[in-house]
Amino acid sequence: MAIGFFDSGIGGLTVMADSIRKLPTQDFVYIADRLNVPYGTKSKDEVKTYIIETTDLIIQEGIDALVIACNTATSIAVAELRERYSIPVIGMEPAVKPAVEMNRETGLRVLVFATPLTLKQPKYYALVSRVDDLNIVDSLPLPELVNYCESLQFDREIMSDYFREKLSAYDLSRYGMVVLGCTHYSFYRDILREVLPPHIGIIDGNMGTVRRLQAMLYRIGIADGDGSGQVKLMCSGNDPAYLDKINTALNLIR
Ligand code: SIN
Repeated sequence: MAIGFFDSGIGGLTVMADSIRKLPTQDFVYIADRLNVPYGTKSKDEVKTYIIETTDLIIQEGIDALVIACNTATSIAVAELRERYSIPVIGMEPAVKPAVEMNRETGLRVLVFATPLTLKQPKYYALVSRVDDLNIVDSLPLPELVNYCESLQFDREIMSDYFREKLSAYDLSRYGMVVLGCTHYSFYRDILREVLPPHIGIIDGNMGTVRRLQAMLYRIGIADGDGSGQVKLMCSGNDPAYLDKINTALNLIR
């Protein structure tokens, strides 16, 4: 038995690493669409084709469930993937709801970081209009951040300067929460922690996804897996150098 994880690149590793910790008796298969990353700056139709091509590859591995460990792909194609495959498919959701709840009493605002494509999708608008009854949610696209992550750019000074520049127009004393709405961005949580004032919390959707995955495994009767946390890494184009990169990135967070 194995759980499949799909992302445009290495971002979904942040969700898989959390899942491995919580589900040590499962095995895991990870696929990155190395040929087409990044998704978040491309058109919806183009990205939808890439998603289906790549998830078809991981389905051939005989996985028991699929996690779309990519906010952009979830917002574009999760419904279609659920129709296409007979196994359960779980997607990401930016943690806007818990962020709004945490700020309900404070009068502070919520700032959502995500890719330009995620922020343009009806799924994102629907989420915000459902949970943002206080009208406190703002959104900031960070199109460059996936490329930084894909080139394993984790230099503290370079990345702190990037975040400071992106946030320079915001009065951060008015914000109480930052939501990381792209799985790549979770690689930068520690650097962001140093850049943001201490009163601002940082939240991503990873643990929410892991909880939904656990509940679903329980429902389909494979919660007590017969695996041992083994991980198989794959990528579109089957490029050995990229597979090495995935392995390096996974070791940074595992
Ligand atoms: C990207 O490929 O642009 C990032 C995908 C994501 O939203 O996690």
